Amino acid sequence: MLRVYASHTSCGGLSHIRRKAPVPRLRRWMSVRPEQQHKTPDARKKVTIAELQKMRDAGTPISMLTTYDYPSARALSANPQIDIAFVGDSLAQVCLGHTSTTELTLDEMIHHTRAVRRGTKHPLLLADMPFGSYNVSAEDTLRNAVRLVQQGGAEAVKMEGGVELAGVVRRLGTIGIPVMAHIGLMPQRCNASGFRVQGRDAESARGVLADALALEDAGAFAVVLEAIPHKLGEYITNRLRIPTIGIGAGNMTSGQVLVWDDMMGTWAGHKAKFVRRFADVKTERDAGVQRYAAAVRDRSFPSATESYAMDDAEWNKFLRHEEK
Ligand code: KIV
Repeated sequence: MLRVYASHTSCGGLSHIRRKAPVPRLRRWMSVRPEQQHKTPDARKKVTIAELQKMRDAGTPISMLTTYDYPSARALSANPQIDIAFVGDSLAQVCLGHTSTTELTLDEMIHHTRAVRRGTKHPLLLADMPFGSYNVSAEDTLRNAVRLVQQGGAEAVKMEGGVELAGVVRRLGTIGIPVMAHIGLMPQRCNASGFRVQGRDAESARGVLADALALEDAGAFAVVLEAIPHKLGEYITNRLRIPTIGIGAGNMTSGQVLVWDDMMGTWAGHKAKFVRRFADVKTERDAGVQRYAAAVRDRSFPSATESYAMDDAEWNKFLRHEEK
């Protein structure tokens, strides 16, 4: 118990005595208290890039999932089989209501990455570089990546682009910022190329492979392959020495990634072919909102057991005082 000792002086000749008067502890009830941080029994050591490489070499599939806030980061960290917690720029649409990832700012990304940081334990914390934060001058790119690491707490960054990004990947590598590249369908370029499956003809498949090889050569620690034929996903995976993380690239890539809201089923927007709903949170969530609203309307919420009681004697004392 917290005790605060107050010193009193009295006029009865005892002014030299310092009496210890315990002050009653202040008690507060909050509906939102910080959760107890329990260690999971099978808590896992922090995932490193070297460990991801080992997983790839051993043929153990890497599991990466997006996360945008503290609660989802806690959920990922509660599962030792999640390897990478990824603050994707899909944040723009699924959390912030933008219509495209191109609207997301670096400040917004940093704000969410900080929240994820607070909830992330063992998974490697990866964050997307938003559109316009790296396809700019070399100094600005470095400064922005450093902000994402320093202020956001990211342990690695991801960026979309092929061969043309090799120089940036190399530069970031020299200052110790690991880069995961992202090729194939690049949502940040949707204004130019739409949301189309890539690498479907021989020439375009050669282009995706060339991008992957150039990025590996530049020092990327992994490559996301989005929306390409599964045969090409497998082929590129076998050609590279670094891990490939697929999203719509078949099941033979070194790992998989999905958007939280897609796989949880909270997202009512477009569902891509490669999305599997692993839960139906939207139905349950909407039903919860409906039950709450109805209970407020018919006054069945809160019930007596959900309300605080007061001693009758105290209540009557209160009323008598009011009547005076
Ligand atoms: O921002 C994102 O969600 C992505 C996907 C690859 C998962 O980049």
